[in-house]
Amino acid sequence: MSNAHGMDTDCMTLTRFLISEQRKCEHATGALTILLNQLMTAVKAIASAVKRAGIANLYGIAGTANTSGDEQKKLDVLANDLFVNMLRSSGQAALLVSEEDEGVIEVEVANQGKYIVTFDPLDGSSNIDCLVSIGSIFGIYEKKSEGAPSDADALRPGHELVASGYALYGAGCMVVLTTGCGVNGFTLDPNLGDFVLTHPTMTIKERGKIYSINEGYALYWDEGMTKYIKSLKFPEDSKKAPYSARYIGSMVADVHRTILYGGIFLYPSNSKSPNGKLRLLYEGNPMAFIVEQAGGAASTGTGRILDVVPQKIHERVPVILGSKQDVADCLAALGQ
Ligand code: AHG
Ligand code: MN
Ligand code: MN
Repeated sequence: MSNAHGMDTDCMTLTRFLISEQRKCEHATGALTILLNQLMTAVKAIASAVKRAGIANLYGIAGTANTSGDEQKKLDVLANDLFVNMLRSSGQAALLVSEEDEGVIEVEVANQGKYIVTFDPLDGSSNIDCLVSIGSIFGIYEKKSEGAPSDADALRPGHELVASGYALYGAGCMVVLTTGCGVNGFTLDPNLGDFVLTHPTMTIKERGKIYSINEGYALYWDEGMTKYIKSLKFPEDSKKAPYSARYIGSMVADVHRTILYGGIFLYPSNSKSPNGKLRLLYEGNPMAFIVEQAGGAASTGTGRILDVVPQKIHERVPVILGSKQDVADCLAALGQ
């Protein structure tokens, strides 16, 4: 609803959206709304830091390495501090699992709530310094056990997620979110300083025309993967056009494009990395939940990502996700 000055006087902000969703659910207490609001404060602060990074001397390395041995960038550390501090102080989280911290973070008893939050505070670190899109990813579980939280509370299959989402810091800043009833996208309005619903009920095409994989690892692919990618570039049916290749190297950006335009994104198992590179708890699962909720599919190559039972908080998982038909074609080529 716009008034004479072209201003929307009744806009659906992310907070308003969450409140209205919460009111539809008899048992909702508003705890998830508070938690997500705190997360959004972290996201807005990261978006602002990303924009100012060149001026504020935020490019480059922090001089430390994370638990996977990746070199930490200054923005990785800043984004992680924001996520941890905002979630800790929300009063709604009991346990945090971050890509940047080796162990789980237990929230101090006085501030504990019922949620377990897993996150990749800054995804696509290698793209930071050249101003290519980066993101944040998060997954939210409800704590089931009694007593002090422990690793076991976070080692849950993705089908138990109550919510997941990602933020994309691209030409604009968007948050895409699911609470298990479809997927909605919100764009940061810099004038308002808030996220506004711009992409209601996001759905993925049944089939797309784009494939997204790091082809530099082709030497290490197995026969099935080699056959599948070849079939996209050299279709057997001469009337069919080959697929286009797009690979940004930031999972958030590659998955966001896959949701909007259709197609397939892959970080599969290969002979050098049998479980691929992406992490199950804060990359594979949150994205698989969103993609399935948008009508797509997400597989490890041998089964549904959301059904994998994690053994370790930082474990990796092969990822094949996107349009249902494209994922099915890939799995058929892999002999599944
Ligand atoms: P992160 O920056 O959180 O470590 O994640 C980087 C990931 C992911 O965003 C992307 O899909 C992948 O690394 C790219 O890896 P390759 O360079 O091996 O293709
Ligand atoms: Mn990542
Ligand atoms: Mn990261």
